[in-house]
Amino acid sequence: MQITDAEILVVDDTPANLKVVTETLASAGYRVAIATSGERALKQLQNRVPALILLDIQMPGINGFETCKKIKENPELYRIPIIFLTARSDTDSTLKGFELGAVDYISKPFKEPELLARVKIHLQLQQMTQTLEQQVSERTQALSSALTELQRYQLQLIQHEKMSALGNLVAGIGHEINNPLGFVDGNILVLKEYFDDFLTYLRLYEQTYPPSNEVLSSKRRELDIDYLLTDIDTIFESMTKGCDLIRDVSKSIRIFSRTDTAAKLTSNLHEGLDSTLHILKYRLKAKDSRPAIQVIRDYSELPDIKCFPGQLNQAFMNILANAIDMFEEVAENTDYATLETNPQSIIVRTRLVQHQETESVEITITDNGKGISEDVCSQIFERNFTTKSVGKGTGLGLAIAHQVIVEKHGGSLNVQSELDQGTTFQIYLPTMD
Ligand SMILES: Nc1ncnc2c1ncn2[C@@H]1O[C@H](COP(=O)(O)OP(=O)(O)OP(=O)(O)O)[C@@H](O)[C@H]1O
Ligand SMILES: [Mg+2]
Repeated sequence: MQITDAEILVVDDTPANLKVVTETLASAGYRVAIATSGERALKQLQNRVPALILLDIQMPGINGFETCKKIKENPELYRIPIIFLTARSDTDSTLKGFELGAVDYISKPFKEPELLARVKIHLQLQQMTQTLEQQVSERTQALSSALTELQRYQLQLIQHEKMSALGNLVAGIGHEINNPLGFVDGNILVLKEYFDDFLTYLRLYEQTYPPSNEVLSSKRRELDIDYLLTDIDTIFESMTKGCDLIRDVSKSIRIFSRTDTAAKLTSNLHEGLDSTLHILKYRLKAKDSRPAIQVIRDYSELPDIKCFPGQLNQAFMNILANAIDMFEEVAENTDYATLETNPQSIIVRTRLVQHQETESVEITITDNGKGISEDVCSQIFERNFTTKSVGKGTGLGLAIAHQVIVEKHGGSLNVQSELDQGTTFQIYLPTMD
C-alpha cells in the first residue's frame, strides 16, 4: 500500500466539516470514505476497513468516544489508528481520547498542512508496525519450525544413543555367552565319547572278572550303577538341549540388536519379531500377580524387505513392551482366577497387503487389555506423552516407533482401540524402498 493511496474514513455529523476535510485529503491523493454518525461509521466498518479514521467527538447518537471504544473492542478493527477531530481541546477530553486508544487529536478549526502531516505520520507508523508484526510472525514461525526439527533430531539422537548403548551391551553379552558356551557344548561331546569308552572298558572288565568280591558288588548296588548307566544318556541329552537354548537366546540377542549400518539390509521380519519376543520372554512369564501372557503368532508368508532391522526391532519392542506394561497394571487390580479364565494375550499377525496402492507388509500387534481412551489415543505418538508415573515411562517409546516406521521406512503406524476390549497397533512397511 502506498500511503497516499490509503483510504481514510472521516466521521463527522457536520456536512461543512466533512467537505473541508474530504477536500484537503483528496487533494493530497488519499481516498476518502465518509460517515455522518458513529452508528453509520461502525456499520461501514463491517464491510470496509480503512487505513485510518478521523473521528469527530461531538455527534448525535453515540459520540466519538463511544465509537472509538467500540472500534477498539473489535479484534478485526482495533489496529486502525484513530485521530480525534475536536473542537474541545481541553486536557480532559484529549486525555480521555488517548485512554480510549486514539493515537492523536487535531483541534478544529484545523490548519490543512497540520492535518496532512499528522495523517501522514500515523499512516507511516501504522505501516511500520504492520511490517514489524509481519516480521515477528515470520521469525516466530521460522523459530517454531526450527524447534520442531530440533526435537526430531533430539529423538533420533536419543534413539541412536539408546540403540548403541543397548547394542554394545548386548553385543558384549552375546560374546560373553558364546565363548563359555563353546567350551561346554564342545566338551559335552568329548565327555560323552570318553564316557562311552570308559563304559566299554568297564563292561569288558566285568565280563572278564565277574564281581565275586562282596565289597565291590555291595558298592555297585549302593551306587545304583545300573540305573546310573541308563540315566547318563538322558543327562547328556538335557545338557545338549540346555546349550541349544542358550544358543537360541544368544542368537536372538544378536538379531535383535543388529547394529544398523548406514544402508538398509535385506532381512526377514519374522526373525526380527521372534527375536524381540524372545528377548521379552522373561516379562511374559507367569508371576505371582498374573498367569503368563499368551503370545499368538499368526504369520503369513512374507518376502524379505530392505530395512534397518535393529531399528524396526526397537519399534516392535516399544509397542510390545507397552502392552506388557498395561497388562501388569491391569493385573494389580484383578484377581488371579479372573485372569486365568480370560488370559491376557498379544496377537502378532503379519500379512502381505496393498496399502495406499503400495505392496506392503502389514504387521498388527493386538492386545486384549484395557484399551486407550480417545483423548489419550490422539496423543500417544507425541514425544514425552505418557500416562505412567515418573520413573516408569518417559513417553518416548511410541514417538520413536513412529519415527522409525514412518520417517526411516516410509511406512505408517496407526492405532485402534476400544476401552475394555483392547488395542491394535497397525504397522505398514512398503516391500520396495
Ligand atoms: N497397548 C496399550 N494399551 C494401553 N495404553 C497404551 C498401550 N500402548 C501405549 N499406551 C499408552 O500410550 C502412552 C505412550 O506410550 P509410549 O510408549 O510412547 O510411552 P511410555 O510407555 O509411557 O514411556 P516409555 O515407552 O518412553 O518408557 C503410554 O503411557 C500409555 O498410556
Ligand atoms: Mg512405552
